[in-house]
Amino acid sequence: MRNIVAGNWKSNKLLNEAQEFTDPFLSALNELTGETEVVIAPPAPYLATLAKEGAYRFSWAAQQCSAHGFGAFTGEFTAEMLRSTGVQSVLIGHSERREHFGETDEVVRAKVEQALAARLRVFLCCGETLEQRESGRPEDIVCAQLEHATTGLTDAEGLVVAYEPIWAIGTGRTATADQAQSMHAAIRGWWAERFGPDAAANLPILYGGSCKPSNAAELFSQPDVNGGLIGGASLKVDDFLDLVRIADGLQNG
Ligand code: 13P
Repeated sequence: MRNIVAGNWKSNKLLNEAQEFTDPFLSALNELTGETEVVIAPPAPYLATLAKEGAYRFSWAAQQCSAHGFGAFTGEFTAEMLRSTGVQSVLIGHSERREHFGETDEVVRAKVEQALAARLRVFLCCGETLEQRESGRPEDIVCAQLEHATTGLTDAEGLVVAYEPIWAIGTGRTATADQAQSMHAAIRGWWAERFGPDAAANLPILYGGSCKPSNAAELFSQPDVNGGLIGGASLKVDDFLDLVRIADGLQNG
């Protein structure tokens, strides 16, 4: 399976700053020869402009989409609209959306359905709080999130899982490689029961949470870690390219 390195810019950068990143980044990416898939999720207002720019093994993603289709939903943008701009994927269920914007499991589920119907690939985000981790069974919390988000789906086509422990997001406190591997193995095991062993073997599971060039090699080299969903370190061209190079090196090695 190819590694994926995906950048989530969150609410950062003005349009001109996004363009100043994109030109040198995509040129440099075109010079690299690795196989890692590279994705960036910029703020939604820039997508139609940025999605005109491309590179080998690169695509654009949105950070969320509406739980509804077309209609009287002021301010919302649908998965179909995203698709029409050239976007290929969407993050759904990020913990910041759950915490600050009231995204319940039901909303996450509805968004997954909208995105898949629009043929967008879904980066399904999951992760536990520190309190939940310390309560002893973080795997149960995370697998319950996946269960809600995939309710009613008959297959796992178009899904990628991003495990992002909430206590590691933007805190500089990364999960250890062992902690990440053990959660990723639990997710893959749950996936095998839910969708079958082939789907589980082919499921990309990305790690997110203070992942940066100094710790990525250890995390990405774990057997069940297939790359990363990167916040802060995706905002700088050099750091993000370094992460791609690290993933490329492990893929080839
Ligand atoms: P940081 O890499 O800034 O911790 O953010 C991770 C994240 O939330 C990516 O979606």
